[in-house]
Formats: sequence, structure tokens, C-alpha cells
Amino acid sequence: MAIADAAGQTARWKDAAPGSDDEDIIPRDIRFGILENPTRHWLGGDFHKTALIDGLPSSPEGERYFIRSLKYYAPKLKDKHLADEINGYSVQEAFHTREHEDYNRALAKLGYDVEAMEAPVIKTLRSDKIPIFRLAVTCAIEHLTATLSSVTLRNPQFLDDASPAYRRLWMWHALEELEHKAVALDVFDAATTKYSPFKRYMLRTMAFNAVAWTFLKIVLANLVRFARTDGVKTGPRFWARLVWVLFGNPGYWRKCAPLVLKYYLPGFNPVNKDDHDLIRKGRAWLYDEFMALEAAQSAPTAAPAAE
Ligand SMILES: [Fe+2]
Ligand SMILES: [Fe+2]
Repeated sequence: MAIADAAGQTARWKDAAPGSDDEDIIPRDIRFGILENPTRHWLGGDFHKTALIDGLPSSPEGERYFIRSLKYYAPKLKDKHLADEINGYSVQEAFHTREHEDYNRALAKLGYDVEAMEAPVIKTLRSDKIPIFRLAVTCAIEHLTATLSSVTLRNPQFLDDASPAYRRLWMWHALEELEHKAVALDVFDAATTKYSPFKRYMLRTMAFNAVAWTFLKIVLANLVRFARTDGVKTGPRFWARLVWVLFGNPGYWRKCAPLVLKYYLPGFNPVNKDDHDLIRKGRAWLYDEFMALEAAQSAPTAAPAAE
């Protein structure tokens, strides 16, 4: 199904279903049309807010890395439920990879140096050779992604000023990241049953420290890269505005920090009590959005006014 929205962007979807809060991991084959209409400063025309999201340390190679690191364990664990979870996870991340590639091509069309932004991510991921380390890194990245997703679904107003295609894409991504947020840690727990609780805790949290530090460095470097391309000066006002966006209003980091830090709790479980509600809301939002698009497209066009 193809739908052209008011901005002339092409969105295609199937498999979006009305809201429910069951625990299924549902891969949705949705196209968002970002590549057809790349938008600079798509979040309310705001440089900082947009660059913080566009500059998240990521690469389609990252999603392929996650899939590989989980699939490595699927035949070894002999657990049918876990194998099904890994399968659902892999299909979701494969669709994310496809949209991610388009997203990056859209950034390149706008003149941003995507290769330079991806290089440190690819270099870091390729340096990981040991399967259990790769799995611990995947768990850490999934926790960060799930945190950003929870905060997005709890605060959908963050995206009120976003270009429609970008809002749909980020809401879809948040929903699916939340649906599969426990999979990597489930695999990690199953793969480390012979480890002492201390060793398991240290491996999980040390990997998280490394990921969080790398994440911060790359976000800041990308922010400066975006500023250079857009001709934005990186003086004291630039950094003061960044602090305000992160800690003041909307306070992205202020809202994320309590959830992020939970990872350091021994026996951390990623499933929060309000997940079901968030998942139901996310599914309903996505369904309503695409139904509205479909209705708008099939509505008869207004007759021209008589002269
Ligand atoms: Fe993803
Ligand atoms: Fe994910």
C-alpha cells in the first residue's frame, strides 16, 4: 500500500494492527519515504534537537552486528521460546537496517558526511571478536535504545513539531525497540548460566561503561560535524543551548538518566511495569496514523471553486 502525504512523501505500510498489549514481537514492513524528501532540521527547525537524534552513534552495520551476536547463540541454547524471540528480533532489526540505510542516504543528500559519522561505530564494533563480549555490548546498546524509546513513547509531544515522515519513523522504531528490549538480556542470561553472579554482573556493566562512553564521544563529535556543515557557530551559546536541551527543556537526558542508570542494579530486568501500556499506545498511534493517511488519500479532492 502506498500513500502520498501532504508533503509529497511516500509512505508504505502493511502489518500495522490496532493497539494491543500482548507480548509479541511484531516485525512491521513499513517504508517511510525519508529518502524521497530529506529534511534539514526536521524537528521543529531546531538544530540541536535534530542533530542530537540524527547524530546518535549508529550505522546499519550496528543492526547487523546485533543480529549476528544473538543468532550465534540461537542453536546453542536449545530453547524454542528464546529461538522464536531471536527470530522476531532479527526480522525487526533487519527492517530497521533497511530504513536506516535510507535515512543515512537522506543525510548524505543534505550534505552531511555520513561516512565520517559511521566510521568510529564500525571501527569499534569490528574490534569485538569474542561472542560473549559482542553479546554484552549488544545488551548495553539495546538498553540505551530501549531507554530512548520508553522516553519517546512516554513523551510523544517531543515529536509534535517533527516532519510527519520522521515522526512516523521514530515512533515505529521506538515501539519495536520496546517490544524486543528484553531479548538480548534473555540470551545473555541463558548464555552465562555457568558464570558466577559477580562475573555476570561485571561483564554486563563493564560492557555498558564502554558503550556509554563511546556513545557520548560520538554524539558530541557528530554534533560538531552537523554544526560545521550547517554553518552553525560552536561558541558558548551553542554549548549552553545543548545543556538546556539535555537538562532543562525538553530535558532529554534528565528524563533518560533514571532509566539508564537502572542497568547498574544487580539482577536488572529491562521489563518495566508500564511497558504494556506504552506498547499498546505505540501500536494504536501507528495504526491510527496510517489509517488517517489512507483515509486522506482516498478522500475525493475538493472541487475547484466556481469563478
Ligand atoms: Fe533497531
Ligand atoms: Fe534493537
